[in-house]
Amino acid sequence: MTRELEVIVPDGICGDFSVETYTVSEQDSRFSTFNRGDYVPAGTYKRLMRGNTVVMSNTLMEVQTNMDFIRQAHGRVLINGLGLGMILNAILKKEVVTEVYVIEKYSEVITLVGPSFCWDQRVKIIQADALEYKPPKGIKFDCVYHDIWDYICSDNLVEMGKLHRKYGKLTKWQDSWQKELCKYYKRREKREEARYNYFFS
Ligand SMILES: C[S@@+](CC[C@H](N)C(=O)[O-])C[C@H]1O[C@@H](n2cnc3c(N)ncnc32)[C@H](O)[C@@H]1O
Repeated sequence: MTRELEVIVPDGICGDFSVETYTVSEQDSRFSTFNRGDYVPAGTYKRLMRGNTVVMSNTLMEVQTNMDFIRQAHGRVLINGLGLGMILNAILKKEVVTEVYVIEKYSEVITLVGPSFCWDQRVKIIQADALEYKPPKGIKFDCVYHDIWDYICSDNLVEMGKLHRKYGKLTKWQDSWQKELCKYYKRREKREEARYNYFFS
């Protein structure tokens, strides 16, 4: 794994949430692509759990799918979704990043992850629902990134649409985690539905 995408947050538990270190064995790695899963190389990783659900982990897929935003980040940035702070940690290594607003819904996640970033005066972590949060009046961002979803699925498109409309006039650049893949899933679902209706109605 590249150093830039390490997770600096210690393991811990807060309410329903936990940060855990876990290992993927060579055998688990070989099974990772079974049933079209993403390839997970053997190694040691971190994950953020909510109960039994993996909210975020620093696997190869997560690293690769967030790279565009990390390259793009500069100036005043807003990230919706703190998670493990993986991409936050990566963009703070860039001198061109001058200020970062991070909007996180759950206080437990802020308790677990926030202290790892309090040394950096550029970071403002705000507890709020990304869909409800109102940025300070008159403020504009150079880059905005929406990353509040546990999974990649077409249902995410509704919230993505709301967030993109909300920040349309407040930023020159914005993206949502795996938006194009969500759109592809939506098109595929429509195709499958049409095929089903053709045969069965
Ligand atoms: C996939 S993780 C984000 C990963 C993060 N970008 C990183 O680099 O580690 C999603 C995060 O969004 C948070 N979240 C979920 N729904 C939210 C909402 N409506 N508003 C703000 N944060 C939300 C979750 O609690 C979680 O911390």
